[in-house]
Amino acid sequence: MARERTHTCGELRPRQVGETVTLAGWVNSYRDHGGVIFIDLRDREGITQIVFHPEHAEAHALADRLRNEDVAEVSGKVLERGIDDNGRSLVNPRLATGEIEVDADHLALLNKTETPPFTPDDAGKVSEEVRLKYRYIDLRRPYMQDILRTRHRVTKIMRDYFDDQGFYEIETPFLCKSTPEGARDFLVPSRLQEGAFYALPQSPQLFKQILMVSGIEKYVQIVRCFRDEDPRADRQAEFTQLDVEMSFIDREQLMVVIEGLIRRIWKEVLDIDVPPLETMAYEEAIRRYGSDRPDLRFGMELCDIGDIAGQTDFGVFRGALDSGGIVKCICVPGGAAMTRKDTDGLADWAKQFGAKGLAVTKIAAGGTLDTGIAKFLGDVAGALVDRVGGSEGDLLCFAADSSVVVHRVLGELRLKLARERDMIPENQWRWLWVVDFPALAWNEDEKRWDSLHHPFTAPKDEDLDRLESDTANVLSKAYDLVLNGSELGGGSIRIHQQDVQSRIFSLLGISPEEARVKFGFLLDALQYGAPPHGGIALGLDRIVMHLCGTSNIRDVIAFPKTQNGADLMTEAPSQVSDDQLKELHLRLALT
Ligand code: AMO
Ligand code: AMP
Repeated sequence: MARERTHTCGELRPRQVGETVTLAGWVNSYRDHGGVIFIDLRDREGITQIVFHPEHAEAHALADRLRNEDVAEVSGKVLERGIDDNGRSLVNPRLATGEIEVDADHLALLNKTETPPFTPDDAGKVSEEVRLKYRYIDLRRPYMQDILRTRHRVTKIMRDYFDDQGFYEIETPFLCKSTPEGARDFLVPSRLQEGAFYALPQSPQLFKQILMVSGIEKYVQIVRCFRDEDPRADRQAEFTQLDVEMSFIDREQLMVVIEGLIRRIWKEVLDIDVPPLETMAYEEAIRRYGSDRPDLRFGMELCDIGDIAGQTDFGVFRGALDSGGIVKCICVPGGAAMTRKDTDGLADWAKQFGAKGLAVTKIAAGGTLDTGIAKFLGDVAGALVDRVGGSEGDLLCFAADSSVVVHRVLGELRLKLARERDMIPENQWRWLWVVDFPALAWNEDEKRWDSLHHPFTAPKDEDLDRLESDTANVLSKAYDLVLNGSELGGGSIRIHQQDVQSRIFSLLGISPEEARVKFGFLLDALQYGAPPHGGIALGLDRIVMHLCGTSNIRDVIAFPKTQNGADLMTEAPSQVSDDQLKELHLRLALT
């Protein structure tokens, strides 16, 4: 029978000197100093040094057999750390418990470990794959434990905050009818209804709207969402949202609620004061930064030089302008030091974003242009350098194409160069609301309109009249919350009138019959007294990533999936038996 633990391994200080204590944890390290054995014992709160002297023969003999990651319990007296033979202090300033040690007279080996594939201290030396396979060891690292603790604190703050304001946390189903958030659904076959499938929710969007129709008024849920898309650095197929919906509000009221939450989280977790958030229209974000989630921590804005480009004989510029496109440029400070190979590399890289090429030139002494497309720009060099505000030693990068391609290419290039050239200041928090999104975007492939957010987003009232006649210019009541170039959240004021919802479905190419099949319950609900309402969802994983300073979403999820959707620890996904398939009325037709 184990003794009762009196303290954690992070707790003891000089004020406990003289007390007899019992600690339990994992052996973090082991040293034998000529008969005296030192163990660093670790639990989730910290590390304490334990000393075994030969006088306590039984404990000492057992300690001699301890190895890293064994689970042990020790009792003994807390001693102040003294001085060594040379008169130097033995205090370890790197440990919170570094002023004391425990002189053990009792040791119990609670569990002997096999030689672990790695130790928490060595996790940096093994691949992420190994760490994910042995996630239970990986999660013993103080770094991971800090993240899990932060994540817990954040969800606690969220729940307290919304509770204070009268929100109800209400669970919504995981086995549902598919909700169109734009990604692929994970499907679950029904055993009871042959040939029918549930979808795992991409978000609780429709349920939270229905809850508003039900008179809940203020809904919140910390909820798992499922989207069958390829994972990325900040994207997992299974992720968590802070999901919010409110009735009788407008955009500004929603923003106040969310800003208050963000302010509380950043204050309590990082002791940082979040200032009132800026707001930027989508049009301005795209025009200046080529992105609807601009990173405002650095400049290098996109500069329209269409009028100047029009005065040149450069075929690439003229071609783009003649076919209704635009020409824009970014000025890279000090970029002239790049070699031809570097800039050719950029042009190749740009192709993945649809660029046909990437023209460049450099600003030389006296504001003249040199190399690249300089020969085409002779007459306009002065005007160009003035326009972009460049100076000697800068590199100019040009994109000439449709507006969509130019903004995408230069927006990505701006980010890539800023990262590579260390232009992003650390410890800066640039918050932003992006608003006034277009409601719909033309899908050339399928010859129909797509929702920019989702189909339940309300168009602006003043634009309702021209929903069908001037669709491209209809703005929506959507808003995105952006932090340092990452999209933390998105939401909108919703459509609460059935006729408007039907008009949107029709623009999206969803026939009335199809709308009935897919969203009949929503259309019905909107007819039976739906209040005006709106909401937002924030990415919890992304919030924790920012707070913990990691760019890897897998770091903030206890049991994440790899690039190909695998859980390396449990080895999911896996084969199932023929019997299981049969029960589900399925037969595999593997190709
Ligand atoms: P949206 O699809 O914009 O909106 O999602 C909201 C926020 O969730 C986070 N997020 C993700 N995080 C990690 N991995 C993913 N695959 C992933 N996908 C999204 C982002 C994003 O901003 N129902 C609407 C919200 C609403 O209108 O109220 C929705 O889901 O931080
Ligand atoms: P080309 O005339 O195709 O040899 O291209 C001349 C230069 O313009 C090369 O540096 C190309 O990378 C670049 N370029 C080609 N197409 C574009 C474009 N659409 N936008 C910007 N630069 C381009």
